[in-house]
Amino acid sequence: MSKMKKVVITEFGDESKLATVEGDLPDPAAGEVQLSVEYSIVSGSDVNMSRGTYPFQKEAPLTPGYSVVGKVRVNGKGCTKFKVGDRVACLSKYDGHAELINLPERFVVRVPDGVDLKPAVSLLLDWLTAYQMLHHAAHIKSGQKIFVHGLSGGVGVALLSLGRTQGAQVFGAASLPKHEELCKLGAVPFDYSKRELDHRHAGTWRNGRGLRSTRLRKL
Ligand SMILES: NC(=O)c1ccc[n+]([C@@H]2O[C@H](COP(=O)([O-])OP(=O)(O)OC[C@H]3O[C@@H](n4cnc5c(N)ncnc54)[C@H](OP(=O)(O)O)[C@@H]3O)[C@@H](O)[C@H]2O)c1
Repeated sequence: MSKMKKVVITEFGDESKLATVEGDLPDPAAGEVQLSVEYSIVSGSDVNMSRGTYPFQKEAPLTPGYSVVGKVRVNGKGCTKFKVGDRVACLSKYDGHAELINLPERFVVRVPDGVDLKPAVSLLLDWLTAYQMLHHAAHIKSGQKIFVHGLSGGVGVALLSLGRTQGAQVFGAASLPKHEELCKLGAVPFDYSKRELDHRHAGTWRNGRGLRSTRLRKL
């Protein structure tokens, strides 16, 4: 058992209540590693949890923090992947806003030396989301075309980069001021404020190839 401080949401809502409390964290169970947390995030999902609107979320009090970067402090029984002191990252979903956290070793990844830890902790949620969509849902292959709604957002830019790495041609919707930057990154952006996007492009693709309206379209 170790003493630690953590943030808890005690009341959900638009004016949710937060408190910092001191508590005990049990030693990591078999298959878990305990980390000293260095960085965590406040993602859109954390904000929705504080409102009480995130799907299937825990009841209050809960500790937010959807991802963490930290150092391995204790290896639970059977854990051999990391040494104490190794710097690692994990999509934790809860409990990142704490000094210590126990996590399943199988979900923890090493942070390579020299990586800036703030961008590292920030990209986990957006880029894992994008990776799952591309590789586990849409199964994108080289030479395919994809259309990304919200191309200029956190997940959108990750989809753009990972999609291009996979050899796909990436189209998408973004506001006009973001187009120059997106073009430099190799995308073909469309202005979502123009009705022509719905009628000419999205409509043509949907009707011509029988596609349904989803956030990520395989063309
Ligand atoms: N972040 C995650 O890991 C994650 C995980 C699961 C699900 N999601 C969901 O994925 C969506 C995007 O998340 P995000 O984190 O990438 O959000 P974000 O960074 O806030 O980006 C929002 C995007 O939506 C675009 N947008 C705004 N109004 C639009 C409109 N009327 N038509 C088309 N596009 C519009 C924005 O374009 P401009 O900035 O150019 O205006 C921007 O590209 C959200 O619905 C979120 O709940 C996110």
